[in-house]
Amino acid sequence: MEQSQLTDLLGQMTLDEKIGQLLQITGDFYSDKAEERTGPMTQLGLNEDDLANAGTVLGVTGAEECRKIQTAYMKRNRLHIPTLFMGDVIHGFRTIFPIPLGLASSWDDEAAETMARVSGHEASVSGLFVTFSPMVDLVRDPRWGRVMEATGEDPYLNGKLAAAMVHGYQGDDLRGDTSRVAACVKHFAAYGAAVAGRDYNTVDMSERQLRDMYLPGYKTAIDAGAKLVMTSFNTVDGIPASGNRHLFRDILRREWGFNGVVISDFGAVKEMISHGVAGDERDAAKLAIKAGVDIEMMTVCYLRNLGDLIESGEIPEQVLDESVMRILQLKNDLGLFENPLRGADEAEERKVVMSQKHRNAARRVSEESIVLLKNEDAALPLDAANTVALLGPGARSTDLLGAWSWKGEEQDVTALDASLNEAGFQVQTTDEIFDYLDPSQQAIDAAVQLAGKVDVVVLALGEPSFMSGEASSRSDIRLPQAQIELFKAVQAVNQNVIVTLFNGRPLDLSDVQPAKAIVEAWFPGTEGGRALADVLLGKVNPSAKLTMSFPVSVGQVPLYYNVDNTGRPYENDPEGKYVSKYLDVSNYAAYPFGFGLSYSSFEYGQVEVSDSSFDAEHPLEISLTLRNTSERAGTEIVQLYVHDLVGEVVRPIKQLKGYQRVTLEAGESRRVSFTLSEQDVRYVHLGDRLESDPGQFDVMVGPNSRDLSEAIRVELF
Ligand code: IFM
Repeated sequence: MEQSQLTDLLGQMTLDEKIGQLLQITGDFYSDKAEERTGPMTQLGLNEDDLANAGTVLGVTGAEECRKIQTAYMKRNRLHIPTLFMGDVIHGFRTIFPIPLGLASSWDDEAAETMARVSGHEASVSGLFVTFSPMVDLVRDPRWGRVMEATGEDPYLNGKLAAAMVHGYQGDDLRGDTSRVAACVKHFAAYGAAVAGRDYNTVDMSERQLRDMYLPGYKTAIDAGAKLVMTSFNTVDGIPASGNRHLFRDILRREWGFNGVVISDFGAVKEMISHGVAGDERDAAKLAIKAGVDIEMMTVCYLRNLGDLIESGEIPEQVLDESVMRILQLKNDLGLFENPLRGADEAEERKVVMSQKHRNAARRVSEESIVLLKNEDAALPLDAANTVALLGPGARSTDLLGAWSWKGEEQDVTALDASLNEAGFQVQTTDEIFDYLDPSQQAIDAAVQLAGKVDVVVLALGEPSFMSGEASSRSDIRLPQAQIELFKAVQAVNQNVIVTLFNGRPLDLSDVQPAKAIVEAWFPGTEGGRALADVLLGKVNPSAKLTMSFPVSVGQVPLYYNVDNTGRPYENDPEGKYVSKYLDVSNYAAYPFGFGLSYSSFEYGQVEVSDSSFDAEHPLEISLTLRNTSERAGTEIVQLYVHDLVGEVVRPIKQLKGYQRVTLEAGESRRVSFTLSEQDVRYVHLGDRLESDPGQFDVMVGPNSRDLSEAIRVELF
């Protein structure tokens, strides 16, 4: 449709029809089965007219179902405006990729794009038009269950991965290519900073911190063209996001020029009553519409009150019209007026969903996401000459998909024991299934007995998937107690223990530190069992690196590498009392941001800079020679960090400014170069000015945020 036709369409709509466009309800409202419909309809008090006008549908998929709903809906809707199917396709549709925190560990923009491309394709043939991804919340607190859904603690890396995902979902021709879906950036804003890691909790931070650290990731994703933005559940500076005009009107729309659709999170408009900023649903509707929230998800504050707010003159009808137009425009951008069923196609669905090609893609990404945290005495890869027992709750588990894997099915997963067998490696197991939280004594005894008889024990530990994700915060981020006991008992009879982990957050791993090797596999997805087996066997050489610090103890949390310095840095006087430190635990991470080992070893040559100074017209080139000093091919993720020595406001002690995945054959050397421009070192100054500080900068390169080259001092003019 042309813009003029959209304007005409808007002109023909009644007030009720316009308000209806702003309502999102779940698919069960449109079910054929009376009982599935009437329950939810009674709860929200909806009638048939409301259903005919509601503009978007949440959480229904399946080509047949979506086609049926759309066809019936178009007949009932007076102006035949199609509805819009949205859902949470976060790290895969049916073919599940590693959880985003694992995917991020690949530091591979292409892997992120592949995940989004494959998931979007599967989702689109199954009837979805919009996915509520990427989630770009910066995270520093592993107690928060939703860190599994994030890409880590660094704004630069988060932005790069989010932009890659947006491109993977939307492609270059969203309207013409029906195998694409629109992307919704969430949760705006700063949901990842919930106080004490407790989900839905208050967020309280300075405007500068918000703009400097938390907003850039979302901005990069929006600049990449994402069509929607979702509000977050939390408050920001005392105002719930869904009623926060500053966030949505000032920053998102005015400063960033975003003219796509803003959708509330589930129930978040009405929750402003519980927050205590709205006295009733009418107040909540008024706050949300004023803030610029276009679609209200699964509550009816708009539906019941916008008419009255407009008639009373409290909200100009123009404000409603702008929201409706944005929704119509999104429908138009998806080509729905011409093709209301879009990609929904049962034959394609059968062909595309869980195709071997998609499984292969998921497997490759899983391989890239597994982080080798420790490998003493080259305990890994496993040696076929040894007898190996595979024990622990993860040994036979198919709970490898992780939270937010809506359409994923455990039946598609090959567990670790079966994957090792499939790869032709014989492991011994016990008959008993070992529960993650509450194993039987019999299972423990059998495991310990077998452990004493073999050369090597692979102990597959972790969290069951329900322990991370939404509403799954933990105050204790150690492994469940039963597993700690199991580890100790096994370690007492066999000192060659290799720990593998399936889990959704950075853990305090102190209890299993005596292990010879530790492998962080996250929730690796449908093909994750096979990917982990290949890493253990050395068929895949691990290359992944953490994007979120692993603490020594929960007492260090929030813990992140890009901290501001204090007036009393610990490093200046490590023995001193009056420095910024703890009495009982180090300041540092057990495994820092950027950390991960390989079966290869890499030597970093002398870092060189092209000049001792740079300015707006003359960027610096920073380069070094990387050599694979081992006898096997491997991939190293080379990282560039910068420290702004004297800023207008305090600067982080280091910040990631570049990264590269470099694959080298055994013995091969390669020159690796980064460019650093004046623009790269800009940050939010006082008065929200995005500028750089002329003066001195330290430049460092290395394999992780801790083990960096000696700083090279350069000057910015
Ligand atoms: O997209 C999600 C969001 O991340 C959490 N609340 C529900 C939404 C829709 O399912």
